[in-house]
Amino acid sequence: MTGTLDVALIGQRFMGRAHSNAWRQVAPFFAPPLHPFLHTIAGRDPKDLESFAKQWGWTHWTTRWQDLAEDPEIDLVDIGTPNDVHKEQAIAMLEAGKHVACEKPLAGTLDDARAMRDAAKKARRKSKTFVWFNYRRCPAIGFARKLVQQGRLGKILHVRAKYLQSWGFADTPLLWRFEKKRAGSGAHGDLNAHSIDLARFLTGEEIVSVEGAIAQTFYKERALLGDAAQLGGKSKKTKKAQAMGKSTVDDALLFLARFAGGAVASFEATRCAHGHENRNTIELNGEKGSVRFDFEDMNVLELFDAEVDAATRGWRRIMCTTADAHPYAGNWWPSAHVIGYEHGFVNMAADILRVLGGQEPELPLPDFADAYEVQRVLEAAQIAAKQGGRIPLREVK
Ligand SMILES: NC(=O)c1ccc[n+]([C@@H]2O[C@H](COP(=O)([O-])OP(=O)(O)OC[C@H]3O[C@@H](n4cnc5c(N)ncnc54)[C@H](O)[C@@H]3O)[C@@H](O)[C@H]2O)c1
Repeated sequence: MTGTLDVALIGQRFMGRAHSNAWRQVAPFFAPPLHPFLHTIAGRDPKDLESFAKQWGWTHWTTRWQDLAEDPEIDLVDIGTPNDVHKEQAIAMLEAGKHVACEKPLAGTLDDARAMRDAAKKARRKSKTFVWFNYRRCPAIGFARKLVQQGRLGKILHVRAKYLQSWGFADTPLLWRFEKKRAGSGAHGDLNAHSIDLARFLTGEEIVSVEGAIAQTFYKERALLGDAAQLGGKSKKTKKAQAMGKSTVDDALLFLARFAGGAVASFEATRCAHGHENRNTIELNGEKGSVRFDFEDMNVLELFDAEVDAATRGWRRIMCTTADAHPYAGNWWPSAHVIGYEHGFVNMAADILRVLGGQEPELPLPDFADAYEVQRVLEAAQIAAKQGGRIPLREVK
């Protein structure tokens, strides 16, 4: 016997589509203990809302997200809105006794994130919280974590994370992602948040210090196109002077860090690296071997086993598509058939439904307390970037 979980979602664009797809796909592939019922979609764009609801299978729609808190039928509210509204929406839902699955970063500011963590703690008897760090749920990442836990890499010495994209050059308009008051930060909160989560998840260790950072805003002004501007949209070149607005976030942020177990780490996030579309990479080097992952080749994990004899030692390319050997693989296609971006979200929806249905998740799920730890590291890197500790080379003779 399976029960039902009535789900509502706030946000009807990029993540609105990714999450709608996840809630639609999860039951037939995973047969979870609870089946999601796509109850209500809440969005701000009334003209598209009805068609969005029909297209993605939502039974009701509303332009007032507050309706979700007031509706006793809804069990879980999924938040896919810009970072500045996560706090208000998540806390309202927790106070109404709902489970909450919120997008990352948890919030735009550490203060908001702390308030969310505290609200989740207060509501914990009734409500569970989840944060959509979806890259944890790539089979190759889950498998890498298993190798670390089995001691196959030995003591971890290095973590090297780079999350590089190339959509943020001068012709990209002033999306909410470039406004500090809405996003909190730029490439940093957007991309380094994922990398920090992956680094904590893979090593099982906390970052204890950030030691040096640089942030750069390459494009200080961008075309104002209003809320209609979407990710991937470009501002048109016109002869008429275009109204411009100030970009108030970083386009790139790099920082160094130390882990509790002694490993040293580097993180780099940018939206301005041609040749890299969504290159979310992480490499771990341990005393006995290394692993590396690149989301642009997401079904593969590369392993270097230093204990193999020197003559045949080398990087091994492992397709993480084998049922029973790699996390989630058995729920999809016969072994060797690859999966893509959307499957990370479906895999996460499956684990949420397992946990709410009283079962164990395939891989641990991040909650608000977890995401608050990520937010602390984001904040530390921003402080480090501001404080400097700069050594101009002209002073070194
Ligand atoms: N997990 C991932 O890989 C991933 C990828 C992209 C975005 N995100 C995160 O998802 C969230 C949403 O990003 P997106 O790319 O979907 O943005 P988007 O701009 O594509 O969509 C945002 C949606 O929120 C709605 N919205 C905006 N302000 C609102 C408000 N005050 N009240 C109600 N609805 C509001 C908009 O109308 C829109 O439907 C962000 O937190 C972002 O960081 C995560």
